[in-house]
Amino acid sequence: MKKRLLAMLMAGAMALSVTACGGNTSGETSDASGGEQAAEGSAKIGVSMPTQSLQRWNQDGTNMKEQLEAAGYTVDLQYAGDNDIPTQVSQIENMISSGCDVLVIAAIDGSALSEALKGAKDNDIPVISYDRLIMNSDAVSYYATFDNYKVGTMQGEYIRDALDLDNAAGPFNIELVTGAPDDNNVNFFFGGAMDVLQPYIDEGKLVVQSGQTEKAQCATANWSTEEAQKRFENIITSVGYGPNGVKLDAVLCSNDSTSYGVQNALLAAGYTADNMPVITGQDCDKPNVKNIIAGIQSMSIFKDTRDLADATVKMVDAIVKGTEPEINDTETYDNGTGIIPSYLCDPVFADKDNYKELLIDSGYYTEADLA
Ligand code: BGC
Repeated sequence: MKKRLLAMLMAGAMALSVTACGGNTSGETSDASGGEQAAEGSAKIGVSMPTQSLQRWNQDGTNMKEQLEAAGYTVDLQYAGDNDIPTQVSQIENMISSGCDVLVIAAIDGSALSEALKGAKDNDIPVISYDRLIMNSDAVSYYATFDNYKVGTMQGEYIRDALDLDNAAGPFNIELVTGAPDDNNVNFFFGGAMDVLQPYIDEGKLVVQSGQTEKAQCATANWSTEEAQKRFENIITSVGYGPNGVKLDAVLCSNDSTSYGVQNALLAAGYTADNMPVITGQDCDKPNVKNIIAGIQSMSIFKDTRDLADATVKMVDAIVKGTEPEINDTETYDNGTGIIPSYLCDPVFADKDNYKELLIDSGYYTEADLA
């Protein structure tokens, strides 16, 4: 554990024992917990987020800051421009040199932080990988995320059920869109969805007319809406999809930003809410939920970022107090240096039938947000 953190913990413990031994002669209320609080209160937590251009990371950053401050921590929250790797590297280096006690990092490129994190390791600064796994670094202590494989299988199952693949004759046309190749989550999102869909492709009930079925072919750099839109415009043209052309039954999209690009391309090609294919997404971003309500997008995975922040703050708290953080997965996430003990939050899916209950009744959004 980091020396400064240790010193703070010891100071807290000493304050505790002094109070206990000396009794309270002044008549003031006991500061038995004050010593411990001082230790937590003076701990500084560095939070590094990839971009401010996607709604979800803004929410993650805000939730983390609010919850950590409410627990008494000082927070250094940084966004790396718009997914700028050198910026993220230098922000993390600054967090290390400016004396952060714990780092919470959502990496842009899961493999680009090894060098920067050597500094964390040298200074005994625990690192929590947030949402995305940081690869090939033995500085990573814990991983807090959603069950990413389940995200993928839920998207695949949604398509399977919407097209009734087990009963309908088919064949159905599907296209596949996933995210950034340098984001380890893509392996789980795409892998989980394909574990459900591949058997139907193999038996010919699902057909990928573009022929683009490999993860690398379906990837979208930086999860960019514009890139996804461009690729999909090309697919529409080359296959001849259209409301009056080749029928497109479903598009697997790993998240909302890519899904939005696909929807833009389809709308521009003349599709409307009446003839849109089944389209998946993830994050329940506001524009996407509006499209769900309008019948343009079929579903999105809801990952309540308040839950992830809550789980991460509990991890930070346990680390600072020198206790064991709660872990519920010790098998799935190997970052190349070994398995990283993980806490996985549970994702659910939202569609037009349940979005009100999930998103509005829970206080995640207001009615006005989605109007
Ligand atoms: C996150 C998704 C997000 C995507 C793009 C992934 O690592 O898990 O929730 O949509 O990055 O930012």
